[in-house]
Amino acid sequence: MTPQPLETAATEALLAFWRDAGVDACYLNEPVDRTVFVAPPAPQVMQKAAATVTALHGGQHGGMTSADAVSEARRLAAAATSMDELAEAVAAFQGCPLRAMGAKQAVFARGNPKGSILLIGESPGETEDQRGEPFVGQPGQLLDRMLAAAGLNDQVFMTNTVFWKPPGDRLPTPQEQAVCAPFLERAFALMQPKAVLLVGAAAAKSVLNTDDGLMKIRGQWREWRPAESAASAPVMTTLHPAFLLRQPQAKRVAWADILSLAARLDTAQVEPNA
Ligand code: URA
Repeated sequence: MTPQPLETAATEALLAFWRDAGVDACYLNEPVDRTVFVAPPAPQVMQKAAATVTALHGGQHGGMTSADAVSEARRLAAAATSMDELAEAVAAFQGCPLRAMGAKQAVFARGNPKGSILLIGESPGETEDQRGEPFVGQPGQLLDRMLAAAGLNDQVFMTNTVFWKPPGDRLPTPQEQAVCAPFLERAFALMQPKAVLLVGAAAAKSVLNTDDGLMKIRGQWREWRPAESAASAPVMTTLHPAFLLRQPQAKRVAWADILSLAARLDTAQVEPNA
């Protein structure tokens, strides 16, 4: 049976709702008996699938393997001595596979690089891709209003785990996040934030390197020490504003997370040498 456009739209809306709520795995109605051996697909089938993926995305990024792309990202990021230079390095970087998947431009960051909060979201969406700045669509506007209400808006520097829009609004893959991570870590080093705010499950899983669900992590203080960094910062995770737009009653818990962040920064400001 061919799905009708309305059914497709409703299904997509439902999937987006689950995704924003942090649901990133699907289970069948019936349990799967993993003790029963199922023969893997014939090698020719596997080879054909791998060849298709390689032909589409090269298995390489801008002519680089994943490992080379990460090294190149590290090299470019380390050479940047200011946030402006880092933005230029991101724009010049050819190693992220998302570049070749329909993104119009790099979307690096917006906000105050001298502020006290580094906010990390998931990935740019359609509006961000058009405008070249993160969190400028409807979810970003809600986030701005919440931060302003907590008196934090001029303290925030916003970026994402990847700097190009994934196709079809899908989640960024761990591999795409890994090649962008050196730039994120360099932003952290240049900014030396007093706290990090992770927005949504994809950011939390990538930055905190955890499989814990969003509802378990949110509202808790954890610590982030980026790779090869001597410095660390306290990290708060909260719900993604796209989810809050769909589930306004969840704003209450997100608001509690943002107030906890504001309170922590207040305390940090009165500590000597903080
Ligand atoms: N959602 C994100 O996680 N980041 C953006 O920049 C926009 C929407």
